Amino acid sequence: TKAGYPHFMLKEINEQPEGIRETIKRRVDENNLIHFDDINLGKEELKAIKDIYIIACGTAYNAGLQGRFALQKIAKIKADADIASEFRYSDPFMDETTLVILVSQSGETLDTLAALREAKLKGAKTLAITNVIGSSIAREADNVIYTWAGPEIAVASTKAYTTQVVVFYMLSLYIAKLKEIITDEDYTTILNGLNEVPEKIEKIIAQEDKIKAIAEKIKDCTQGFYLGRGLDYSVATEASLKMKEVAYMHTEAFASGELKHGTIALIEDDIPVVAITTQSSLFEKSVSNIKEVKARGAYVISVTQENNKVVEEVSDEVIYIPETDDLIAGITAIVPLQLLAYHVSAMRGIDVDKPRNLAKSVTVE
Ligand code: M6R
Repeated sequence: TKAGYPHFMLKEINEQPEGIRETIKRRVDENNLIHFDDINLGKEELKAIKDIYIIACGTAYNAGLQGRFALQKIAKIKADADIASEFRYSDPFMDETTLVILVSQSGETLDTLAALREAKLKGAKTLAITNVIGSSIAREADNVIYTWAGPEIAVASTKAYTTQVVVFYMLSLYIAKLKEIITDEDYTTILNGLNEVPEKIEKIIAQEDKIKAIAEKIKDCTQGFYLGRGLDYSVATEASLKMKEVAYMHTEAFASGELKHGTIALIEDDIPVVAITTQSSLFEKSVSNIKEVKARGAYVISVTQENNKVVEEVSDEVIYIPETDDLIAGITAIVPLQLLAYHVSAMRGIDVDKPRNLAKSVTVE
């Protein structure tokens, strides 16, 4: 049931704190050590892994873009993310030192399953991150980590995405600890940061009225852009997909630095541009990118951390997310943008939970 919510999508956005709590709680013991029941890779095997491919479709792929950051930064392993339907055609190099991570909410997406089979054939180690126990991908992969998001009914993925990203962070911490390459201090900081995510998401959801007012302002626009640098760019990619999928608004995500290499030609008066600036080390560069679009008439909606008040000077609207470690800001920064897409969709009278032409689980290539 929708438990009093008008749509499953809104219900599932609101269920994110709970899903993330479950996803973390089930794996962390009283000594703050992470355990995964269905991972059969030992210390030596994990140490032997030289590179990682993260393979998925749609939103799960976007979660993989954040996962790539986590694995490279925390676990210090070269990681790449690729779209499942393309992966096999680039003849990817894999051997027993390769770990292929398949991300799939349903565990039934055919392209992702085909990539898993190919990876096994080539002798790579495989690991599934999925929300459905006993799904095809869970059964066929050598190792599994379940997200504990609970059933996701809306076609648009929300809580599966955030729990997938959380799993990537936990996996990165787990590998880093096994390989003894992380200090206790860094380990604790990141784990504490993850533990605080649910509460922070609740604070963001409490700003729903403000986000709804912004949705009201952009609901008749025919196009829009999402800008971000670094981790914020992966958030932009997912935020843009949500708006296209549920609100039928043509949007694109751009890496802020790429703007002046062509795409800035698209910016004209009153075009909504959502600028995501959660990363403190990239903040100044991102602000100068906002100025560039603002000078060309864009209607700028910024998503940033609470202390970055200067964005108010260059933005028409600012949505603040609670202060958090930069590394995990991507998990919270998506939430207001899920809500924005949801409200634009609802205001347009679209069947939010079942947007046209889409299926929850894609079992054809
Ligand atoms: O079940 P999966 O995670 O494998 O599904 C992958 C995509 O089809 C899915 O994420 C799709 O992009 C969503 N509808 C996006 O909200």
